[in-house]
Amino acid sequence: MCTQRAGATQDSRTSLDIPLEEIKEGKVSILGPKLELYSDKNRIEPCWAPVFYNPIMKMDRNISVAFLQSFSILTNKKLRICDALSATGIRGLRYAKEVENVEFVVLNDINRLAYDLMKINIERNGLEKIVTAFHSDANILLAYFARRGRRFNVVDVDPFGSPVPFLDNAIRAVENNGVLCVTATDLAPLMGVSKRACIRKYGALPIRSVFSREIGLRILIGYVVRTGAKYGLMVKPLLSYSSRHYMRLFLKVRTGKKRADESIDKLGYVSFCPKCGRVWVEKHFFSLEKKCINCSSKVEIGGPVWLGELCDKFLLKKTVGVFERFFGKREKGFKILKCILEESSMPPYFYTTDFIAKTYRFKKEPILSSIIRALEDMGYKATRTHFSSKGFKTYADISTIVEIYKSL
Ligand SMILES: C[S@@+](CC[C@H](N)C(=O)[O-])C[C@H]1O[C@@H](n2cnc3c(N)ncnc32)[C@H](O)[C@@H]1O
Ligand SMILES: [Zn+2]
Repeated sequence: MCTQRAGATQDSRTSLDIPLEEIKEGKVSILGPKLELYSDKNRIEPCWAPVFYNPIMKMDRNISVAFLQSFSILTNKKLRICDALSATGIRGLRYAKEVENVEFVVLNDINRLAYDLMKINIERNGLEKIVTAFHSDANILLAYFARRGRRFNVVDVDPFGSPVPFLDNAIRAVENNGVLCVTATDLAPLMGVSKRACIRKYGALPIRSVFSREIGLRILIGYVVRTGAKYGLMVKPLLSYSSRHYMRLFLKVRTGKKRADESIDKLGYVSFCPKCGRVWVEKHFFSLEKKCINCSSKVEIGGPVWLGELCDKFLLKKTVGVFERFFGKREKGFKILKCILEESSMPPYFYTTDFIAKTYRFKKEPILSSIIRALEDMGYKATRTHFSSKGFKTYADISTIVEIYKSL
C-alpha cells in the first residue's frame, strides 16, 4: 500500500513547527495545537488549528471508550481498531490506553502535520507496540483493509462535516459482527436547514420541525443501512445519539443478504402536520398521506429514515455501568446515556412543551414532568428524550396531548 507508516521501530522525530501544548484527556497526555491561538470572540475554532483538536468532543470520546469497553466484554473480542481520521490521534490513543482487551489500533490522517503529531503522541504515551500511524487518504487506507483477513472489528469515522464520502469503504473494512462508529457534523442538511443538500448527500428528505434532530439522526442511520445493504451487509444501531453540533452512531455490521433485507424493511417515513402538530409513521412511499386527516393541511414528509430502535438495550445498560465506573455519574454523557435507555422503544419522533403551547395558543407552558405524569396517569407510556430538554415521547395522539394541556 502506498502510504507512509510509523511503527515502533521508526524514528518519531519531526520537523513540526507549530505552537503546541500539553493536553490531558482520559488516561492519555498528548501534544496538541495551542488552542488559544485559534479563537474568535473567546470562542475556540478548532478547525483553524493546523491540526484539529476539539475539547468539546471529550464527552463523545468518553462515551466511545465506555461503549467499546462494553462491546469487548460482552463479545469477548480482542479489538482491532481503525481510527481512520485521527488528527492528533487522541481518540485512537484513548481507545488503546483505556479500553481493556485492545489488540492494536491504526491511526491515520491525510494531513502531514497530523501524522507527525500522531507519531509523537504514540511515543509520548508508550503505545508503540499496539498503535501504528498511517499518512493516507482514509478511503485508500480503508479500501486496502477491506479484504478477508485484514478487516478490523472496529472502524471509527470522525470526519469534518459529512461521513458520506467514507462510508462505502469504511463499512467494507468492518469484519462480520464488528462495529462501525460514525460521526456527522453537517447538521444543516440533516436537520433540514439545507434541504437540497440533504437530498443530494443522503438521498432523503429532512423535516424542519422541533424534532428535526431526531429525523436527521434517523436519516443518517438509514443512509448507512442502505450503504451496507448494497454489499449484502446488515447494519443495526447499537447506540446512536445527537448532542450539540454533532451526531454519533455505533452500528453493528453483519454479513447476510437476508439480514440486509430485514434492516431495509425497518426504513420508512415520518409525516408531520405543521398546522395541528400531528405526527405519524408511514412505511411505504407510494401510499403516503399528502393531507392531514385532522385538519386537511399539507403535511411534511421526512425520510427514508430508520424506524427501528436507536440502541441495543443490553449493550447500552452495560455501557452506562462502564461509564459510571470509568468517569463517574457526574461526568457529561452519563445523563444522556441514561435518557437514551429510557426513551428506547418509543416512537421515532417527539413533541416539545413549547411547540404544543404555541400551536394551540395556551397561555402557560406546562412543565415537562407534569405532562409526562399526566400521560402516564392516562395509561400512556411517556418519557423524556435526550434530543431536547423540552421534549417528550409518547404514543398518545395529538388530541389527547391537547386535552392534557387543557387539564393542567
Ligand atoms: C474532525 S477531525 C478528527 C478528529 C479526531 N478523530 C478527534 O477525535 O480529535 C477530521 C480529520 O480528518 C482529516 N481528513 C480529512 N480528509 C481526510 C481524508 N480524505 N483522509 C484522511 N484524513 C482526512 C483531517 O485532516 C482531520 O484531521
Ligand atoms: Zn393537521
